[in-house]
Amino acid sequence: MKYEFPKGFWWGAATSGPQSEGRFHKRHKSVFDEWYDRDPKAFFDQVGPNVASNFYNDYEADIRLMKEAGLQSVRTSIQWTRLIADFETAETDSEAVRFYNNVIDCFLANGIRPVMNLHHFDLPVELLEKYGGWTSKHVADLFAKFAARCFELFGDRVKDWTTFNEPMVIVEGEYLYEFHYPLEVDGKKALQALYNINLASAKAIEAFRASTCKQQGGRIGIVINLTPAYPRSDAEADVRAAQFAETFKNRSFLDPAVRGTFPKELVGTLATDGVLWESTPEEDAIIKENTVDFLGVNFYQPFRAKARETALAADTWLPEKYFEPYEMPGRRMNPYRGWEIYPQALYDIAINVRDNYGNIPWYVSENGMGVEGEEKFRDENDQIADDYRIDFIKEHLAELHKGIAEGSNCFGYHLWTPIDCWSWSNAYKNRYGLIAIDDLVTQKKSLKKSAYFFKKLAEENGF
Ligand code: BG6
Repeated sequence: MKYEFPKGFWWGAATSGPQSEGRFHKRHKSVFDEWYDRDPKAFFDQVGPNVASNFYNDYEADIRLMKEAGLQSVRTSIQWTRLIADFETAETDSEAVRFYNNVIDCFLANGIRPVMNLHHFDLPVELLEKYGGWTSKHVADLFAKFAARCFELFGDRVKDWTTFNEPMVIVEGEYLYEFHYPLEVDGKKALQALYNINLASAKAIEAFRASTCKQQGGRIGIVINLTPAYPRSDAEADVRAAQFAETFKNRSFLDPAVRGTFPKELVGTLATDGVLWESTPEEDAIIKENTVDFLGVNFYQPFRAKARETALAADTWLPEKYFEPYEMPGRRMNPYRGWEIYPQALYDIAINVRDNYGNIPWYVSENGMGVEGEEKFRDENDQIADDYRIDFIKEHLAELHKGIAEGSNCFGYHLWTPIDCWSWSNAYKNRYGLIAIDDLVTQKKSLKKSAYFFKKLAEENGF
């Protein structure tokens, strides 16, 4: 059987500024730059974001390789810490404007549609130190100013924008589970950040609609990581646990982004627990009025939940008050990343978006498989024969295809990632790219077997 995708389907890949560019000529530090400078040992092999995949210097050659891999669209991000010289006024850095103009022009010259995201875990550390980062409403305003600047500078050529990548991961990493600087565990702050990031996204969308982008054919969305929550069993307590996990982990951003409102059951629970965020009716109205044109969905793994069996030992509010993660026996794992592989969830996402979110246009903005030690898979031609990645992509596409055949409005698939890139505290442990970095020092790059598969996939609009 041939899986054929709708006409005009995007075949592409995603990366981000902080994971690819390197810190060259960057005026300000992000929270990750700061964390690395303070504690390099927290990063795999002590490799930080300083060089990343050297996109700042190599972008022309890198984009040519992306074209060779058949990519028709690529998402990256504009770094707030690079573009902006003064956060209060959103005055820009001229070298950064030159760089992003060149990158966009280079994508277009190579026939690749640039999709630009505005925040990929890279909050300027000054805004954390001065105002408390995402716990501050002022930072939401500054983000909207930065976004407005991007629309004004690049909106003539960039037609597809997204405000945030995986906003829930910011909340979880910074304020719940200690994997993003400032590594705090504070439920109240987490929930305020959750609200403020929704507000910042809505304010950026408001700025987009006030700009000339729309007249120039532009549209704006958000990239949300969805981890569909499945209960351990049909028992009522397990189902309730999974429902709360679904509401908190997925709907906290999905509902405001698409429907303009927070799930009532979440607001009710948080109010009862005395931890509801601070907000005004005016702010709620901004969220209500500025919903997205389209949705990007990052999908890597499902979430399995069971009713709590042990007491929760925490001196702050945690969502785990209402569920416990469940390790399903026999689940299929990617052992390198420690994430379950469950392609069927992509079909469930497609149907959920179709039935519960007005069948809004959406695309798979990330999906992929991080593998450690790919060097051992080099074949006689010295190429990384990553058949496991090809199989992973095919299995996920088959499920997506089923969802599309049943009417879900999905317009594309972006693999994480075009070129092996720096993965936060995992640095270069797991590789995700269609294109390998053969040597981190020389930054020599070469196409993996999956790149040739992807090229054919794009050319044939299916497999
Ligand atoms: C997503 C992010 O969470 O998954 C990327 O948007 C990230 O930034 C990717 O790199 C893969 O996850 P990780 O943690 O293995 O790098």
